[in-house]
Amino acid sequence: MAEKSFKYIILGGGVSAGYAAKEFASQGVKPGELAVISKEAVAPYERPALSKGYLFPEGAARLPGFHCCVGSGGEKLLPESYKQKGIELILSTEIVKADLAAKSLVSAAGDVFKYETLIIATGSTVLRLTDFGVKGADSKNILYLREIDDADKVVEAIQAKKGGKAVVVGGGYIGLELSAALRINNFDVTMVFPEPWCMPRLFTADIAAFYETYYTNKGVKIIKGTVASGFTAHPNGEVNEVQLKDGRSLEADIVIVGVGAKPLTALFKGQVEEDKGGIKTDAFFKTSVPDVYAVGDVATFPLKMYGDMRRVEHVDHSRKSAEQAVKAIKAAEGGGAVEEYDYLPFFYSRSFDLSWQFYGDNVGDSVLFGDSNPSNPKPRFGAYWVQDGKVVGAFMEGGSGDENKALAKVAKARPAAESLDDLTKEGISFAAKI
Ligand code: FDA
Ligand code: NAD
Repeated sequence: MAEKSFKYIILGGGVSAGYAAKEFASQGVKPGELAVISKEAVAPYERPALSKGYLFPEGAARLPGFHCCVGSGGEKLLPESYKQKGIELILSTEIVKADLAAKSLVSAAGDVFKYETLIIATGSTVLRLTDFGVKGADSKNILYLREIDDADKVVEAIQAKKGGKAVVVGGGYIGLELSAALRINNFDVTMVFPEPWCMPRLFTADIAAFYETYYTNKGVKIIKGTVASGFTAHPNGEVNEVQLKDGRSLEADIVIVGVGAKPLTALFKGQVEEDKGGIKTDAFFKTSVPDVYAVGDVATFPLKMYGDMRRVEHVDHSRKSAEQAVKAIKAAEGGGAVEEYDYLPFFYSRSFDLSWQFYGDNVGDSVLFGDSNPSNPKPRFGAYWVQDGKVVGAFMEGGSGDENKALAKVAKARPAAESLDDLTKEGISFAAKI
């Protein structure tokens, strides 16, 4: 059992970890001061690639092509880059015990890691159908997607079951991105989700109608208003059929499940203050425990613009929160301070030839603008959300770089809107004027 001490430890090897390491390196760390500990076997990478380019039938993205921090146009930190920058990258190492009072972490192998400052960047894990007691949910080829090992299993199954039948359980981000990926790989795809329309976390019925028709035109079958209630398997243990709660059943060679994620906070239960399911932080990502920070998916932080505590499970925030925490740590060491985190929520997705961006808050009334006919070869439409007479959220499918910048500006400025009708008529030019 080894014991090692570091000035700083980043616990987790995902997106936030990669961006925190980059920020430490750019501020300067002495060799041996910083360690990144990850249960994954590879250096931090841009997780969004896993549900997109990684699954392409041709020219698929592979490491080292998408290590952090290429997603934001930053330097690509290859495994050897960490060493060159004096950072110890401790991979394939799961921390199973954390004692925040003693400032120590213990790995599954029994190694002890001591720190002066800890950044918790453990991200989220998938919700599993087995957690809900769904019968047969442990059959082979019922797959989830979070880490690169999961993505490799999906790729393996795609190759083994070429042109077969796939059922995708869940109508959120994973549901939509994986249905498209499987369809592109020539699978016969059926999506199943309980809500009346897809991506209900963000989309209005109007926005969802576009994507559902587009997907249907691409050959994806969509079954709404029900859930997978059980699975049966072939004698070799591989999934064979999905039973739905409404009594129907679907043949399946592969099942992909994307029914949500939960932040990985269990190691710290009872040791740190929590809020809304995450670890509570201030605007510098400091937790209730001295010298312990939390960033990315696990952090519930003050979203200054809305005067609210929020947790955000998207990549832009994971990058920016990590940078903010490291800047705050380094500034405090020099007796200084950084500005409070003032985040504008930004989410995006890509599937088939589609690409959308959203900025702000999806609350209040919403209106569509532009051409949302899914049969048009280049659909280009958007939506605004208006609350208390102000535009608070903006969405666009197929927007140009400038148009997406305009969306961000309008969501940040929150200008008054005369009427929903005017917004529909003005469309993106309303945002472009800001
Ligand atoms: P992240 O999950 O990236 O990293 C957590 C790390 O901690 C992992 O390496 C994990 O192994 C490690 N870890 C956890 N517990 C540990 C322990 N006990 N010991 C050691 N290591 C431990 N967002 C978006 O805006 N646009 C997009 O297109 C996508 N696409 C996308 C695709 C897929 C497949 C997923 C799963 C997610 C996305 N996201 C996204 C969401 C985005 O990727 C996510 O919000 C960030 O990765 C969060 O970054 P974190 O660093 O917080 O967690
Ligand atoms: P999600 O919250 O986006 O969607 C979960 C969906 O599961 C719900 O919309 C619902 O349709 C469905 N659902 C819930 N219970 C169900 C059940 N019993 N049967 C069938 N469907 C059920 O979560 P996700 O899609 O699993 O994504 C996981 C995580 O990965 C999230 O943090 C997400 O933000 C992240 N992610 C983000 C992106 C992106 O931002 N582009 C892409 C992929 C993943």
